[in-house]
Amino acid sequence: MDKQELVNNIKKMKIEQNAVIVAHSYQADEVQEIADVVGDSFALSQFCASNTADTIVFCGVHFMAESAKILSPEKTVLLPEINAGCPMADMVTAEDLREAKKKYPEAAVVCYINSSAEVKAECDVCCTSSNALAVIKSINKKDILFVPDQNLGSYVAKMVPEKNIILWEGYCITHHKIKAEEVLKMKEMHPDAILLVHPECKPEVALIADFVGSTKQIIDYAKNSEQCKFIIGTEMGVLYQLKKDSPDKTFYLMSNGLICPNMKKTSLKSVHDALAYKRYEINLGSDIINRASHCLNKMLEVCK
Ligand code: 13P
Ligand code: SF4
Repeated sequence: MDKQELVNNIKKMKIEQNAVIVAHSYQADEVQEIADVVGDSFALSQFCASNTADTIVFCGVHFMAESAKILSPEKTVLLPEINAGCPMADMVTAEDLREAKKKYPEAAVVCYINSSAEVKAECDVCCTSSNALAVIKSINKKDILFVPDQNLGSYVAKMVPEKNIILWEGYCITHHKIKAEEVLKMKEMHPDAILLVHPECKPEVALIADFVGSTKQIIDYAKNSEQCKFIIGTEMGVLYQLKKDSPDKTFYLMSNGLICPNMKKTSLKSVHDALAYKRYEINLGSDIINRASHCLNKMLEVCK
């Protein structure tokens, strides 16, 4: 089947099945093009919680599709690529977290949305990169156990010195490899460019950035800025929307290796097959859904 046939079939099946296609901003251009909504983890969670489709085809990674299922258990949620996982989410297990909770019995437990449903079920509240600060500020305890991203956790910790944030040792394999020396070199090469980075970058990288934000916040910042040159410190998928919004602006990707291999597994063909064969359906037990939905819903409540 050629590209046009795939697109036509996807559109037809979408209507027949009352399905929506949601895509994270790190997805391949061809996937973003056919999506009904493209966004960051928070925007997509909000969308999944509130839309009326029967089926959600989630073009992203496993924890995102799982979160959609937790927020909309009555819907069929499909992840087109069963092996699209997030290595950072795998850096904390429910069992390890239960052990850590014994060590810090007084602490509130906050999980980054990049975590499994089982981990979410152990937590008080969830957050994404766009709302971690607001979520942490909303907690009335001083001690906060934050899992699994050490970089997002330490970025927020600097802004709330009144809190004692206990960090986990997880990190994103894509963002964590950006080195401050590399960033400084880019800044030297493009002295008039604004540096925009994701909070999953190391603290020394976030420190020299002009703006730190989620994928959607980075895209919005560049769109609304009067500046016309930007160095982008996040996964290269954002370039699709950045260039679409501002064709006359210049974007320098921090390095060519800024690719999340798991996000890039999804293709037009896999989206097509997801709808054609109803695969791969996310199934979660009602107990996990009940326990994990509490922490996702609390985030949506705090960040309405
Ligand atoms: P966003 O919340 O910015 O979508 O980030 C999710 C993610 O996995 C970034 O690596
Ligand atoms: Fe996970 Fe990093 Fe990929 Fe985001 S970019 S899905 S944190 S591996």
